[in-house]
Amino acid sequence: MNVIRFSDLCAQGKVAGQRVFIRADLNVPQDDAGRITEDTRVRASVPCIQAALDAGAAVMVTSHLGRPTEGAFKPEDSLAPVAERLAELLGRPVPLVANWVDGVDVAPGQVVLLENCRVNKGEKKNDEALAKKMAALCDIYVNDAFGTAHRAEATTYGIAQFAKIASAGPLLAAEIDAITKALAHPARPLVAIVAGSKVSTKLTILKALAEKVDQLIVGGGIANTFMLASGLSIGKSLAEPDLLDQAKAVIEAMRARGAAVPIPVDVVTAKTFAADAAATVKAADAVAEDDLILDIGPKTAEMLAAQLREAGTIVWNGPVGVFEFEAFSHGTEAIARAIAQSKAFSIAGGGDTLAAIAKYGIEKDVGYISTGGGAFLEILEGKTLPAFEILSRRAS
Ligand code: 3PG
Repeated sequence: MNVIRFSDLCAQGKVAGQRVFIRADLNVPQDDAGRITEDTRVRASVPCIQAALDAGAAVMVTSHLGRPTEGAFKPEDSLAPVAERLAELLGRPVPLVANWVDGVDVAPGQVVLLENCRVNKGEKKNDEALAKKMAALCDIYVNDAFGTAHRAEATTYGIAQFAKIASAGPLLAAEIDAITKALAHPARPLVAIVAGSKVSTKLTILKALAEKVDQLIVGGGIANTFMLASGLSIGKSLAEPDLLDQAKAVIEAMRARGAAVPIPVDVVTAKTFAADAAATVKAADAVAEDDLILDIGPKTAEMLAAQLREAGTIVWNGPVGVFEFEAFSHGTEAIARAIAQSKAFSIAGGGDTLAAIAKYGIEKDVGYISTGGGAFLEILEGKTLPAFEILSRRAS
């Protein structure tokens, strides 16, 4: 994808003395007292801000936090905890500026954090007048908010239409590069793992990937529905029988291309959904009526691990079992370790997937870990994200 890269602007000396407006995604989880409980997104946003400062820009950074009511700022909407964390990470003060749409006072070599952009009236509907005012604040707009790239809002889309220069920050550019490598020009075989509780929430992804990938590994409740579609009994496991035809269509589409949806040959079952429930390994065709399937079995795990080790590219979204419960975590662990050992380029995204990566400590062995939740899923659905579309339009 052709976009103007902020790193190129810096290297070309075009940033010194310029007013730079960075749209980051600093939407972090907080506890009841407002303390940040997980700061990956703040840390991931630092390189762009630091590059702008190093290049001698006057730097404005903003983000949304949560989903506040526009025009009705409440203390819990404030980016104050983020300003504090950013200041620690950058080793310099990061003043927080409220009511900033009509003008921002910031000098070259300084950085300010502009209060939660979603409290501005018109942000979510991408109001043109608001976007024009924000574009007038800067010489260079930088979108570094991959997590919000699927939203066409005033700070993610409209401002990019009207700013003098609209560019992609290093985080957004890295996401674009990783996604292009994995999905547009993948080394084959391309293996995708799509797991989760419901086929319905990931049906578009399954259909889109069925046209691209060589192996489509399904897990969790999704795998149960696919097992049903293959004529296997799944007892009282979570599944969506009304989507059997859709599951069959995905299997058929894959088969027609010479590709496959591997169906589990064994599973781990329990009689109740509980951390201390007794776990029993069963052949996939021996599941009893009162069984719950909570993980893939060891033979299936080994079969899938072998495919992952041979893959050229791996896309991973979702754990294949209830990995939060030790007895039902081995399938997800086997998948995680196989991805870590594989020479394939791997890309992973989605909340549960990131939790599994952290649990097995394989962060360094995954090719790229996406910061996007909904944005990553929309990419897998084959959609062009609004932020990508406008940045590439502004580059041509
Ligand atoms: C996210 O957390 O996925 C992003 O920050 C986007 O947030 P949103 O769903 O509120 O737009």
